[in-house]
Amino acid sequence: MGFLAKKIMTVLVTGGAGFIGSHTCVELLNSGYDVVIIDNLVNSSAKAVDRIEQITGKKVAFYEVDVRNRAALDRIFERHAISCAIHFAGLKAVGESVQMPLEYYDNNLFCTVRLCEAMRDHGCKNIIFSSSATVYTGTDPMPLREDSITGGCTNPYGWTKYMSEQILRDMAKADSDWSVLLLRYFNPIGAHPSGLIGEDPRGIPNNLMPYISQVAIGRLPYLNVFGDDYDTPDGTGIRDYIHVCDLASGHVAAIRYMLEHRGESVFNLGTGQGYSVLDIVKSFERVTGVKIPYKIGARRAGDLPVTYASPDKSAAILGWKAKYDLDDMCRDSWNWQKKNPNGYGDRAQDSQE
Ligand code: NAD
Ligand code: UD1
Repeated sequence: MGFLAKKIMTVLVTGGAGFIGSHTCVELLNSGYDVVIIDNLVNSSAKAVDRIEQITGKKVAFYEVDVRNRAALDRIFERHAISCAIHFAGLKAVGESVQMPLEYYDNNLFCTVRLCEAMRDHGCKNIIFSSSATVYTGTDPMPLREDSITGGCTNPYGWTKYMSEQILRDMAKADSDWSVLLLRYFNPIGAHPSGLIGEDPRGIPNNLMPYISQVAIGRLPYLNVFGDDYDTPDGTGIRDYIHVCDLASGHVAAIRYMLEHRGESVFNLGTGQGYSVLDIVKSFERVTGVKIPYKIGARRAGDLPVTYASPDKSAAILGWKAKYDLDDMCRDSWNWQKKNPNGYGDRAQDSQE
């Protein structure tokens, strides 16, 4: 009869139980990839993995393992024919990184190094890395382009992203078989429209949208707006918020590009559109019908007045563009929060709250 069966490609997703990882797994499975997740659940729940399967109707292989565990990585590479990896695993709380720099450097840098060693030794040399807009100094004019100035990070978390980028760049320079994509995310918010997966921060949220959602659900009394005396139209900080499902589809576009190219490249994943803190509050109130009480407070140390991306390179080369608007982001954040008032609700600290 003679036909070629289409080979299903297997993607290793480190940190796949986390916020961005879980949404990306859904997008990968819906695009026909097989998925292997490694996550030690330090900031996530195994329930997210069940929910990924529930949304997609497909099975994933899940390993509750620390990415720094080289022997465990070897076993996983022996068991699965992995074509490429998306490396989300990492600690990401800026304030915590200032308090615990060694834990952040250990976790975030050694995850990257151990994973790449295992990949090299198993002949899998295609990696996408979760970097951040935080690597830009922000001193260049907006929008930030991939060649805008980086460095001068204000906290250890930011340095781990900057240093991981450098490690991966050096690796690609030394061995031309590697394909390395550094994706710099701007401000992911929103949730899967099903409300089954979403962002589940530990304790009091540091970031704006989870904080607003917890005010809306009544877990927090009001939003503290960090300064209204910036040089912006309403005085509050401006950021490039992007729906997490758009970010997820950006990874699928990135895989296609990665498999056809060698060497290292960097792409922004943002919308190119900036919104202020008060724009977000207003959109959230309009879309949900829930009032968000707020008070104007002092500026937060280390905050820039305005950051937003140029998405032009990603559009031109990856053929990817964000589709969701701010109202979609607010609607889906709220849908997740409403359906899961305590997030996944199964971590030790959840019951202490
Ligand atoms: P998250 O905390 O929800 O997900 C990270 C996942 O990695 C968690 O499930 C955690 O349990 C896991 N993990 C951490 N250390 C691990 C280890 N040593 N071994 C195995 N698993 C480990 O965070 P997220 O928002 O989904 O972010 C994913 C990635 O994107 C992170 O690297 C983060 O730094 C980066 N990023 C996030 C944002 C954002 O605003 N959320 C912005 C820019 C970059
Ligand atoms: C934060 C991180 C940054 C990370 C980014 C995306 C800090 C200092 N920086 O930046 O490293 O890459 O998230 O994960 O934490 N705001 C309030 N009240 C709040 C919370 C936030 O007014 O309770 C304001 C902030 O001042 C800012 C905007 O809302 O203007 C967005 O804040 P946030 O969600 O923390 O994102 P970033 O500041 O971009």
